[in-house]
Amino acid sequence: MADAKLDIRPSGAPIGAAVRGVDLTAPLTDEQVAAIRAAWLEHQVLAFPDQPMNDDDLERFTLRFGPFGEDPFFAAIEGRHHIAAIQRGANETSPLFAENWHADWTFQEFGPDGTCLHSRIVPPVGGNTEFVDQYAVYEALPEDLRAWADATDVWHSARGGYAPDGLYGEGDPDDRSMAIRPSSAAYAMQRHPLVRVHPETGRRTLYSCLGYIIGVAEPDDGRRFIPADEAATVELDHGRLGEIYGLQHDERFRYSHVWEPDMLLMWDNRCVLHRATGGYDGHERLLHRTTIGYNADVR
Ligand SMILES: [Fe+2]
Repeated sequence: MADAKLDIRPSGAPIGAAVRGVDLTAPLTDEQVAAIRAAWLEHQVLAFPDQPMNDDDLERFTLRFGPFGEDPFFAAIEGRHHIAAIQRGANETSPLFAENWHADWTFQEFGPDGTCLHSRIVPPVGGNTEFVDQYAVYEALPEDLRAWADATDVWHSARGGYAPDGLYGEGDPDDRSMAIRPSSAAYAMQRHPLVRVHPETGRRTLYSCLGYIIGVAEPDDGRRFIPADEAATVELDHGRLGEIYGLQHDERFRYSHVWEPDMLLMWDNRCVLHRATGGYDGHERLLHRTTIGYNADVR
């Protein structure tokens, strides 16, 4: 049979859709990839239920949407270079991983276009992954705040999470089951515009949030931005950044994803924030993750 048309059902929330009518354990046709990409750009988060994929399937799927991204502070699973295990033991006491709103790896010069997660062990309760549409948040900003955001560059850094003195650094409890690898490389800084034009949709969107954004790159003479090594000492503009942060997880623009076993999720890291949620103490959880890197072919 020729390519079956994808069955795409919006989640009912402002973003997110479930996709059926495709078998991700088999290679995809170019037509299927194009249809999935179009749905991904439209809905920002796609869930594919009932996909008993193995690691080869997950890697093959990921590479149809871009190169693998660099995952600097995770160790890969045994025998793979580009798959990380997002896991938590039933009796783990460490703080929940990725509980704060964020986009992935925005401190990189060319941050990832997207992330894929495939569920292997799903707890019977809790563990939703939540998303917020950052196009919608941008469009809903008060006019003066939006104008400020449009004109502002910010500094990103992984230091709050992955530096030796960061959240997942040397003070992290010993019983964390995830293979997180803190490093002084996390002190590096990267400047990005606070508002970016999505390279494929052409829509303006907020990019990242406090957590990875550590400061505003203030123009000192209207043209030149302060150098990276001085930026850390500049007073952060928490007035306006904080105000934007307070609006970035507006419930009006959220989707809370409920997991099932053998489900693939892919999100567009360029236009959503996400976070993990708990509520499954006493239960194990395991997902395999790949990162869709910066794809020069779509720019
Ligand atoms: Fe994340």
